[in-house]
Amino acid sequence: MPEPVDTAELKDGAACGTDPAPPCTLVIFGAMGDLTKRLLMPSLYNLAGAKLLDPGFGILGIDHNDNTDEGLRAALTEAMESFAKDPTSEFHADRIDPESWGFVRERIHFLKGDFEDPALFAALRDRLSGNVVFYLAVAARFFGTIVEGLGRAGLLKQEDGAFRRVVIEKPFGSDLASAKALNARILKQADESQFYRIDHFLGKETVQSVMAMRFANGMLEPIWRREYVDSVQITAAETVGVEERGGFYEPTGALRDMVPNHLFQLLCMVAMEPPNSFDAEAVRGEKAKLAEAVKPIPPSDAVRGQYTAGRIGETDHVAYRDEPHVAKDSVTETYIALKLGIDNWRWAGVPFYLRTGKRMTSRRTEIAVLFKPAPFRLFEGQGIDPLTPNVMRITIDPEHGAATEINVKVPGPKMRIGRVVTRFRYADFFDTAPNVGYETLLYDCMTGDATLFQRADNIEAGWSAVDPLLKGWPQADIAFYPAGSAGPREADDLLARDGRHWLGLDGKTD
Ligand code: BG6
Repeated sequence: MPEPVDTAELKDGAACGTDPAPPCTLVIFGAMGDLTKRLLMPSLYNLAGAKLLDPGFGILGIDHNDNTDEGLRAALTEAMESFAKDPTSEFHADRIDPESWGFVRERIHFLKGDFEDPALFAALRDRLSGNVVFYLAVAARFFGTIVEGLGRAGLLKQEDGAFRRVVIEKPFGSDLASAKALNARILKQADESQFYRIDHFLGKETVQSVMAMRFANGMLEPIWRREYVDSVQITAAETVGVEERGGFYEPTGALRDMVPNHLFQLLCMVAMEPPNSFDAEAVRGEKAKLAEAVKPIPPSDAVRGQYTAGRIGETDHVAYRDEPHVAKDSVTETYIALKLGIDNWRWAGVPFYLRTGKRMTSRRTEIAVLFKPAPFRLFEGQGIDPLTPNVMRITIDPEHGAATEINVKVPGPKMRIGRVVTRFRYADFFDTAPNVGYETLLYDCMTGDATLFQRADNIEAGWSAVDPLLKGWPQADIAFYPAGSAGPREADDLLARDGRHWLGLDGKTD
């Protein structure tokens, strides 16, 4: 096996030939929130460590609670230190490097303000000049209001070569109509090119690598089509429950939370046509075409599930209905499985099965491409028929890599066929620094590369495909599965109906 390659631009971007982002102020709405602590600060720390932030970089954190520059700096420093001590946190480093964190820390400033108050935007106008990225790390109900506040105060005007960009988190709308309305509302204030709608799945190295695997190798693309592919399974299984997020999750559910956004990103990566260039508009254009070709999904091709009490490993878990802020008779789904078809030349007739759920037996996010069996039964006479078809699994979490299952001869005098796995793990080849996935997204936004962000039409296409489900589903139609299982039996029936089955969640060969 080749030696691991130290390619980590996140260790020293400058040394790898990556230019620092231009000077700018990052204005964070929701500076004391969870997202700022867990994801934005560790990402900025990593970018500072890699020398990818300009000395003219600054942070202005806004929150409606009282605080000061020093108070915010102390709270964020404490959060960073607690992550370093906790091996289970999303960002875990052996120690916080004082120089890198010092760079970020001393640039943090605080402004108190109410997102609905024009006085906040007037104060911002007085404080800001030059390049600005406005980051909306707030509840979705404030997205439209904040963008209007910025627009009305003239803060989104790009003058004298300076940029003004707005990063918007998910959920972007709660159905097709609300997503369209939000797009229309924000696009009255600034141009589409100024909006960076985030889907954090696109910050994951392995998700971006799907494009590299498909389009940087001549080997895969010829067989990546209906003639050779039997079906595709896209899975995002989690062991976590809804934690303290019952209030958000109750009106949302697994379909809205994961499918039109995260799972559709995986779908686009695996199924879109090769773009003409690696330019943001070319890539997003291909994604839009793919999402538009997804046939509307009827409720009969989907299964909604909800977890009941159960055990994962050594830990007992309560039922979803017994979680905090959840109704005792809730019919919100914590699991969804669905089958969809893509109406285009490459994929017509190939079923794509998607599933995602909380409190499942193990954590596993992956794209599995199942190939058709060998066309000629050469080994039929040897009593070794039928052969199991090849499967290529691109594993996104928790392992980063890919595994392909193929058939080989079992050693010995008789011709016997055995199934083996050829496996690639990122960690075996690349020596990368710990990162939370937002580093690339923040850097790209500061440098004006929108490839990994969602355009208005990408968002609307995702919602369009699931809209019939949201509208046509009898709310009470919910299947139960015990925490620690692979989902409800009805989801197995969905595939059994087509003579197929789900791949195991343990990643082992089936
Ligand atoms: C978020 C969802 O967008 O993605 C969460 O709101 C979900 O419910 C999370 O747990 C999954 O992301 P990841 O990166 O942990 O797979």
